[in-house]
Amino acid sequence: MKTRIIRTDTFVGDAVAIIHDAALEAIAARGIFRFCLCGGNTPRPVYAELAKLYLDLPWEKIQVTFGDERCVPPDDEQSNYKMARKTLFDAVNFPEGNIFRIRGEIAPGDAALEYEQKLAHVAERFGEERYAHDLLLLGLGEDGHTASLFPGSPALDETARNVIPAIGPKPPPQRITFTLPLINAARHVCFLVNDPAKSEIIERATSGDERLPAARVKPASGRLTWLIGL
Ligand code: 6PG
Repeated sequence: MKTRIIRTDTFVGDAVAIIHDAALEAIAARGIFRFCLCGGNTPRPVYAELAKLYLDLPWEKIQVTFGDERCVPPDDEQSNYKMARKTLFDAVNFPEGNIFRIRGEIAPGDAALEYEQKLAHVAERFGEERYAHDLLLLGLGEDGHTASLFPGSPALDETARNVIPAIGPKPPPQRITFTLPLINAARHVCFLVNDPAKSEIIERATSGDERLPAARVKPASGRLTWLIGL
């Protein structure tokens, strides 16, 4: 696997360029861009800038998923969906049918199964064993977690499922997360990190310290990018 580590002082612009290029490449190749959003605060300015710079992207050809979601209602300030709605979806009038929202407001087990079925339906159309994202964004926690895969979590050992409930120390504790097999089925995975407090954990994760969930992200396709705005 070839890992690209990009250190930049134009973090937001570079992140938007990676997304934009991936979208055009995927749409040219397969007529659709399957794009996974990460949660947390880091991506907020990236989504806002994407909406501002590329209002004319063919949004109807873009299908958006979420690498994880907190088990809260969609209008809750902690919802990753709500963050994306405020920074991206409303700004570009994103086609509602293209937004695959994880229903954080229902029982976690039901929400995970429902989401797996949604992804499986599309994967079947493409003849894929697992839904293959064209670009899957990930954040990094100070403990080395990514999506809602936290150090020591049994969720890290999941090899069959694609989407499962998970508990983590980062509030709110009850979440739904992509598993490593689904993340690693992506054509291209890109970490977005720009917090100086994460410098040490970035070094450990990019050096392959597999005690960290982020270090276990190894897309089979081989395309892994770390965009580091430090
Ligand atoms: C979440 C995210 C989580 C996040 C990291 C970094 O739902 O919280 O999926 O994995 O990406 O914790 O969060 P910040 O960008 O806020 O530092």
